Amino acid sequence: MKIAVLKELAEGEKRVSASPETVTKFIKLGAAMAVEKGAGESASIADSDYEEAGASVGTRAAVLKDADIVLGVQGPEPKSLKDMKKGAWLIASLDPFGVRARVDEYAKLGIDALAMEFMPRITRAQSMDILSSQSNLSGYKAVLEAAAHYGRAFPMMMTAAGTVSAARCFIMGVGVAGLQAIATARRLGAQVSATDVRAATKEQIQSLGAKPIFVESVEGIEGEGTGGYATEMSEEYQKAQAELVSSHIAKQDIVITTALIPGRPAPRLISDAQIATMRNGSVIVDLAAEAGGNVEGAVAGKVVEKHGVKIVGAQNMPSSMAADSSALFSRNLYNFLSAYWDEEAKRPVLPDDDEVTIGIRLTKDGKVVNERLLG
Ligand code: NAI
Repeated sequence: MKIAVLKELAEGEKRVSASPETVTKFIKLGAAMAVEKGAGESASIADSDYEEAGASVGTRAAVLKDADIVLGVQGPEPKSLKDMKKGAWLIASLDPFGVRARVDEYAKLGIDALAMEFMPRITRAQSMDILSSQSNLSGYKAVLEAAAHYGRAFPMMMTAAGTVSAARCFIMGVGVAGLQAIATARRLGAQVSATDVRAATKEQIQSLGAKPIFVESVEGIEGEGTGGYATEMSEEYQKAQAELVSSHIAKQDIVITTALIPGRPAPRLISDAQIATMRNGSVIVDLAAEAGGNVEGAVAGKVVEKHGVKIVGAQNMPSSMAADSSALFSRNLYNFLSAYWDEEAKRPVLPDDDEVTIGIRLTKDGKVVNERLLG
């Protein structure tokens, strides 16, 4: 049973999918670990750290040869996997909607591709959930980015030279990232408010000491769909939300948007006209910039200035904290594989009728098998 760990080749990707800690744990389960040379370098992990943990370090061809399981952070180019054996598993964040054609290529290569971001949101899978572990860090970093681009202070300060007032910070979308953003902005001393389409978040916002801003006037709204995710809202709701947000946004210094709808472009929450009502020097961080953007004019990986407001378009935020994000990502993968480890087979076994298997398996026996891709 051999597990290979790939070096990430995508531009700007600094994370790695196994840490020395998880390497040791996999070896304890009975696996042989092979790490591609330099895989951990940009996450502050040296090849020698992996070797000390018991892994072998080698070229991509060497680590892939005879590997039963291949771990990655992002989905690798299919052509770089030609040395993988048929029936081996590829486990990573495979972005099946974004790069759909790759899934077909994985199937053609006879690889069983498992997309970790399709992990169902059930209690037993919480420790395997890469979206949660990575979003948590993104929410934190979004606030730090905002603070760094803001020409004023976050906390109220009373000084001999006069008082500096606290920054007003508005978080739109209170999932995992949004909750961490609220907590971080509060710790920095900002006055925090937040909104979401899911009614359940109202209490969570309050429990973190922030003010909920919610559309109350539209009957029968419930933004929560299957699996705890948001659904796309009615036109009537969207109109009411836009009006509420307009009046609130004009009084904010910092806005952080995190709203996502799985498999669809991110909902547009802030228009250019609304940006124009904000105070000069305000900052917006759009964590959904890569998924189409919550904010009009946001560009992933760039800071754009519109009407005196800086709009930070987030791009792979977790990669900017590669040491921590890799440690958590690696544990997610270990928690998943160890939960399915079969003592007799001396390897993980995924039952075909298991909710997790059905959720994350994209390809098997040369075919695309995931319902979300076939529909
Ligand atoms: P997400 O990243 O898909 O979306 C972020 C937030 O944006 C969500 O709260 C969503 O409701 C909100 N949103 C979507 N459209 C919006 C709009 N038009 N206006 C305002 N807000 C909008 O969500 P995330 O962070 O992945 O979590 C969603 C839920 O799933 C949470 O309740 C979380 O606790 C739960 N969860 C459960 C897990 C498990 O049980 N294994 C694991 C991870 C999350």
